[in-house]
Amino acid sequence: MAIIIDGKQISADIRAEVAVEVEKMKTDHGLTPGLAVVLVGEDPASQVYVRNKESACHEVGFNSFKYELPADTTQEKLMQLVDELNCRDDVHGILVQLPLPKHLDSSLVLLAIDPNKDVDGFHPVNVGRLAVGQATLPPCTPAGCVELLKRSGAELEGANAVIVGRSNIVGKPAALLLLSENCTVTIAHSKTKDLPGVCRAADILVAAVGIPKMITGDMVGEGATVIDVGINRTAEGLVGDVDFEAASQKARAITPVPGGVGPMTIAMLMKNTLKAAQMR
Ligand code: GUN
Repeated sequence: MAIIIDGKQISADIRAEVAVEVEKMKTDHGLTPGLAVVLVGEDPASQVYVRNKESACHEVGFNSFKYELPADTTQEKLMQLVDELNCRDDVHGILVQLPLPKHLDSSLVLLAIDPNKDVDGFHPVNVGRLAVGQATLPPCTPAGCVELLKRSGAELEGANAVIVGRSNIVGKPAALLLLSENCTVTIAHSKTKDLPGVCRAADILVAAVGIPKMITGDMVGEGATVIDVGINRTAEGLVGDVDFEAASQKARAITPVPGGVGPMTIAMLMKNTLKAAQMR
């Protein structure tokens, strides 16, 4: 049986580590990191995410600034708010909750955020920094995957890492992060030939496709570490991209869904906000 990687516990550990650093920053420099979260409209899921981010801020000792704008907010108004937040000295991180209402262009909004305050790591400048190996604010979910790997005792150097899925917010940045950890990286996707064979050869298997239980037991190599980024709502409840029961017979260690990657995103957001404040 595989080790179950406890994302809830690891997330709590990271938030506690951030809280210690924040305390130091306050006493040594009189500086409190601040995160601004912008929510446009009333999407209930987004409201929950934003509330969770706010309470994580309070837990680690950050200032939290919440902006709730009506669903009919204009592009101009939103850009104006981002500009204001870019200029503020007490705001070190800016997060615009996605998805935005359809009439708004999210790529223009993300471009407007100061890259040094882009705690989501979505700005093309930060994506570029990641690609060329410069210091950056990495996207939270893939950075969380790397933390789970490291803290579960996976050997990264020289490991065969296979990422299934090539999205801009998980698959691609996960590949770049694992490359910088000296993994041999393969990005597999829907057009990959012999996907089961490619997956079976992985020491580290990251599933980020959004298809329930797509990674079956026969696609997992003996002793692999499996990170399941999928969160799929099905009739049987929340299900990952990996068939957990079957995969855990083969894997050395595996993340559950829920309670694996999910809780890590907020922890990494806290880490990025601290880093943004330290960079200044
Ligand atoms: N919506 C769902 N996840 C995220 C995230 O990580 N960042 C932002 N900005 N919006 C999201």
